[in-house]
Amino acid sequence: RLGLQTSTLGQVIHYEESVPSTQKIAHDLAGNGAVEGTLVIADEQTAGRGRLMREWHSSLGNGVWMSLILKPHLPPQKAPQFTLITAVAVVQAIEEVTELQPQIKWPNDILINGKKVTGILTELQAESDKINSIIIGIGMNVNHSIEHFPDDIQSIATSLAIEQGAQLSRAEVVQTILERMESLYTLYMKEGFTPIKLLWESYAVSIGKRIRARTINGTIEGTALGITADGVLKIEDQEGIVHQIYSADIEVNI
Ligand code: BTN
Repeated sequence: RLGLQTSTLGQVIHYEESVPSTQKIAHDLAGNGAVEGTLVIADEQTAGRGRLMREWHSSLGNGVWMSLILKPHLPPQKAPQFTLITAVAVVQAIEEVTELQPQIKWPNDILINGKKVTGILTELQAESDKINSIIIGIGMNVNHSIEHFPDDIQSIATSLAIEQGAQLSRAEVVQTILERMESLYTLYMKEGFTPIKLLWESYAVSIGKRIRARTINGTIEGTALGITADGVLKIEDQEGIVHQIYSADIEVNI
């Protein structure tokens, strides 16, 4: 395989063997003039974090733990769309390097055979009406065997190697994600979210299914209709009322 085929993403790379969190380092770099496309990547995180301040298990040498800095000239309300753009890039990359069929669970989980293989954490540095930087954290379980996961997540987590039955090159996985991401990011900046939305929906697990969404305002059950042009999830409840969900934990197959 040739080297990284991008013009911007990953052209500056900060690699370290072990860090508390690549996300934290990327935030610091982004605030100190890092160029667009700067990638922070590590072999191990000792304090990896997920959404809602959850811990993200990031053991040494078997995963892809990385944070990407983007600097789009857009208003801050567009930031959540980057989670969905990244999710499409990740599923396309998995399809390119394996024979697997990954799916997306709104907003930020990538599943294979119903188990989580990747999580995405999109964070923002913004002034009132413009984005300074978007920090996109991607945690992908690549070469784990099941014993590498803590006991309490062994039933819900998986890795590319577990599902594929063979180890993969992490470098190739990273390159492929960056290449897919750059194509989709370019498409998005040219044509907006509509083409991404169609791709995203073609990979989504929950569309048309009954789901339960736990939000900070309570729990909503109903049928997932799809996402809005902004990337917000729409759920229709039993009374036919359509709810727009900005942030929640989702249970599918209820
Ligand atoms: C989630 O599913 O809740 C998101 C998980 C995001 C994990 C990645 S790993 C690289 C980056 N650094 C972190 O501390 N978190 C993100």
